[in-house]
Amino acid sequence: MPTTDQSGAKTNFQDTGNGKEVFLLLHAFPLHSGMWSRQVAALSPRFRVIAPDYPGLGKSTPRPEPSTMEALAEQVLGVLDSLRIDRAVVAGLSMGGYLAFEIYRRRPGLFRGLALCDTKPGADTVEGAAGREAFAKNALEKGLHWVADEMTPKLLRPQPDAAAVKEVRHLIGQGTPAGVAAAQRGMAKRVDSTATLGAITCPTLVVVGAEDTLTPPAEAEKMAAGIKGARLVRISGAGHLPNIENPAEFDRVLLGFVAGLPK
Ligand code: MLT
Repeated sequence: MPTTDQSGAKTNFQDTGNGKEVFLLLHAFPLHSGMWSRQVAALSPRFRVIAPDYPGLGKSTPRPEPSTMEALAEQVLGVLDSLRIDRAVVAGLSMGGYLAFEIYRRRPGLFRGLALCDTKPGADTVEGAAGREAFAKNALEKGLHWVADEMTPKLLRPQPDAAAVKEVRHLIGQGTPAGVAAAQRGMAKRVDSTATLGAITCPTLVVVGAEDTLTPPAEAEKMAAGIKGARLVRISGAGHLPNIENPAEFDRVLLGFVAGLPK
């Protein structure tokens, strides 16, 4: 379901399920909301699930400017406002977590609960940001096949299932090189969210794939220790995308988290 801004650019989002309570799912780079297919199926019998695509990823129109967390937060909050949603459980995975921090800074009252999955609060180093710029240029020049070759091994556990490889490559292939470049350039500009951790007052769950090498369990432990009352869960048999590599455990943990939230 798309919303369209004045310039005609479309922000696509899934809007599934009929429950009164809302789940907002924020996807990872360089994927799109389709990475949440199993979670949408597990949650939608009880929740209304909103899952947006960032510009140029999935079905949202590419935009020439970097997909900064500020710009994405504005778009996502615009979608929620258009649906008159003012309260949600928010789950963000990796880049989705970076975005969740920005949304939290803007609208803490939105959050019934927060699930931070395979993400981290720190900003990029100078070298890290330069690496993203090089990646953006390569993506524009070499295309999505190159992006999939680069990213898929990093996103999955060291010995991934062939089906997971196929799924992740397929999700990447549904984006655009412009969307990939914009996301990399936007992430390079993100602010350090470490100070935000101490400001989070909603119930928080930290999830990490036990074999995640991009945001390893040690990072997740540090992040969880910085958030008052946060619970950390490691998902076995999974790398950076535990929602795809071990959805049974991931969904059980997520549903258990919401079951314990105050109404
Ligand atoms: C992601 O999965 O969203 C990316 O690994 C985030 C990043 O590149 O920092």
